[in-house]
Amino acid sequence: MYMAENTPTIYQGLDGVYITESKICKVDGTLGRLYYRGYSIDVLAQNSSFEEVSYLLLYGKLPNKMELESFENELNSERDIPDGVKNIIREMAKKADPMETLRTAVSALVISDAEVKDNSPAANLRKMVKLISKISTIVAQIGRLRAGKDFIPPAKNIGHVENFLYMLNGKAADAKLVKFINTMFILQAEHSSNASTFATLVTGSTLADIYSAVTSGISALKGPLHGGADEEALRMMLAIGNPDNTETYINEALAGKQKIMGFGHRVYKAYDPRAKVLKTWLVDIDKTSNGKVKDLIQIALRAEKLMVERLGQSHGIWPNVDFFTGPLYTWAGIPIELFTPLFAAARISGWCAHMLEYWEHNKLFRPLEYYTGPINLDYVPLDKR
Ligand SMILES: CC(C)(COP(=O)(O)OP(=O)(O)OC[C@H]1O[C@@H](n2cnc3c(N)ncnc32)[C@H](O)[C@@H]1OP(=O)(O)O)[C@@H](O)C(=O)NCCC(=O)NCCS
Repeated sequence: MYMAENTPTIYQGLDGVYITESKICKVDGTLGRLYYRGYSIDVLAQNSSFEEVSYLLLYGKLPNKMELESFENELNSERDIPDGVKNIIREMAKKADPMETLRTAVSALVISDAEVKDNSPAANLRKMVKLISKISTIVAQIGRLRAGKDFIPPAKNIGHVENFLYMLNGKAADAKLVKFINTMFILQAEHSSNASTFATLVTGSTLADIYSAVTSGISALKGPLHGGADEEALRMMLAIGNPDNTETYINEALAGKQKIMGFGHRVYKAYDPRAKVLKTWLVDIDKTSNGKVKDLIQIALRAEKLMVERLGQSHGIWPNVDFFTGPLYTWAGIPIELFTPLFAAARISGWCAHMLEYWEHNKLFRPLEYYTGPINLDYVPLDKR
């Protein structure tokens, strides 16, 4: 058997490996803090809009009034999607998983972009604005078609999130709902070198275009260990059904060594600061909710208390951003199958910001594998095997 002279240290899943320097996002897993470009996530979630946070991520500074207005106008003017992409959505929406439709539709946006191959920073920024704007349109249209309705053209002169809700629901959303979805978009916009951002960077590092890179990001986000965890967490809450069943369910799941989705994190060994923001929303909405939403909120709050008592301090397993989203999205009228597509519609800003930054000093990703198989085997002709 072939063995290298020195057995290398293998960092399974790249655990603990730094892949680059970055000024975009600081995740403090020990203290449970998160900063975008130096600004604490709770401050941004409280005060900002998704457009403002996207600008911050892309340009590295908060926009002044004029800069924000001009950025909003750019996004506003890019909301429409080409007919070819609409046709793809029509063809796939009911036959495929929404993330599969999203992945294909985003990849197909190249049909209306003459600058695909222009990798200059200015062209990339223009493409990124298109992507940030159009992904929300695609997600809303997938949602509408799956609900048996038809496309609604984007509205002009309203905010990004307000327009997303308008396209999805066919009516104006109230201010609290707009604020909540803005909060979700902000919380999910960025998270350093998570799997989908890394996948984006790997593809981009080959100098493939931003559409290819982002399509990789969407593919990576699809998995239940990444973007899909919020769906799984809600499915668990729906299976629990009644808040009084929560304790038995959690006990049995933990005894059976089952993972509880929405808990644990590769980096956070403290309470995820995004989950803290969402818990505040949950407690607030609990006061005025009833029926199914109330039950889900109660299940979430009881499960969180139990899990924190059992696995928090002792094992460093705390709620992550995905745990509370299910009951909140249910309150917001977002169907479960759109949770991950919505995550993509927010994370697009982070993917783009990282790609811009990485391309400034691009280096092809090419890690190594430690080969442990045989070598120099005798080749036996097919008819002799
Ligand atoms: C996110 C995640 C993959 C990070 O895990 P990791 O750092 O690679 O740690 P591991 O999966 O190796 O788990 C380490 C230990 O903690 C336990 N653990 C981790 N997450 C757990 C969870 N959500 N519920 C119960 N136990 C959990 C594992 O069973 C394992 O126990 P063991 O040492 O007795 O085998 C993991 O916590 C997980 O699968 N969580 C659920 C999915 C989820 O919410 N993902 C969204 C992340 S934002």
